[in-house]
Amino acid sequence: MLPPVINIFEKASKKAGKILIRDFGEVENLQIQSKSLGDFVTNADIKVEKSILETLKYYYPDYTYITEETGTIEGNENTIIIDPIDGTSNFIHGIPHVGIVIARMTNNEITDGVIYNPILNEFFWSSKGKGSWCNDRRLRVSNRNTFSDCLIGTGLPFGNGIYKNYLLEIDNILKDSAGIRRLGSAGLDLAYVAAGKLDGFWEMDLNLWDISAGTLLVTEAGGKISKINGDNWTTRDRDIIASNNKIHDEIKTKLSLL
Ligand code: IPD
Ligand code: CA
Ligand code: CA
Repeated sequence: MLPPVINIFEKASKKAGKILIRDFGEVENLQIQSKSLGDFVTNADIKVEKSILETLKYYYPDYTYITEETGTIEGNENTIIIDPIDGTSNFIHGIPHVGIVIARMTNNEITDGVIYNPILNEFFWSSKGKGSWCNDRRLRVSNRNTFSDCLIGTGLPFGNGIYKNYLLEIDNILKDSAGIRRLGSAGLDLAYVAAGKLDGFWEMDLNLWDISAGTLLVTEAGGKISKINGDNWTTRDRDIIASNNKIHDEIKTKLSLL
């Protein structure tokens, strides 16, 4: 049985998922605006977020909401964080790697989260102490400990976000691993680490709504998260390493040589 809050997040994300599916691949009908170079918002992002907020506010009218498109709605210490479409560029280009991300945070700790990919009908969820799941399947991070067998995800910074050492980071990971993937949704990337599909992931300059639910999915699936310098990750941090426990230090070392 799903925890009650996950039940409500499922209801909100699956209802909003129908709106996402309706607009998916309809690029001629999408209104696309650029927030900055490489960072887009469509009318679908706005509609999906509106629908999620409508459902959740019925159940949790007094909560604080932190959302990508509406901003912050002040309320009590319980906070819900929403990214209506994580992977907007994929969405615009008809690539079915997109997720609706909803998480609950209390006292700066993520306690519950979901990521729903309506195109593939994959519903990832996790609650503190209850494990990580995709539909009816319990998730575990991968068991690989030989770096040359490991597939590592990342997010390429875009526009002016490209930082000095990024190409060196890529080089350091690439030359010893089985490869790098840039899948285009940081939230789903973390879900894929939780599911053992990716062995590790790193990215800089993320917002909390991208990775809120994903961080819990990874730890509840037996994995590890940290800042890129190895310090404990907190909900105020914008960079992350996520991986199975076995290769975490190796990723950190490869990223901190620079
Ligand atoms: C983006 C995706 C992408 C990551 C970017 C995010 P959006 O979110 O998660 O993978 O590299 O940093 O902004 O804009 O598609 O919600
Ligand atoms: Ca996002
Ligand atoms: Ca988004």
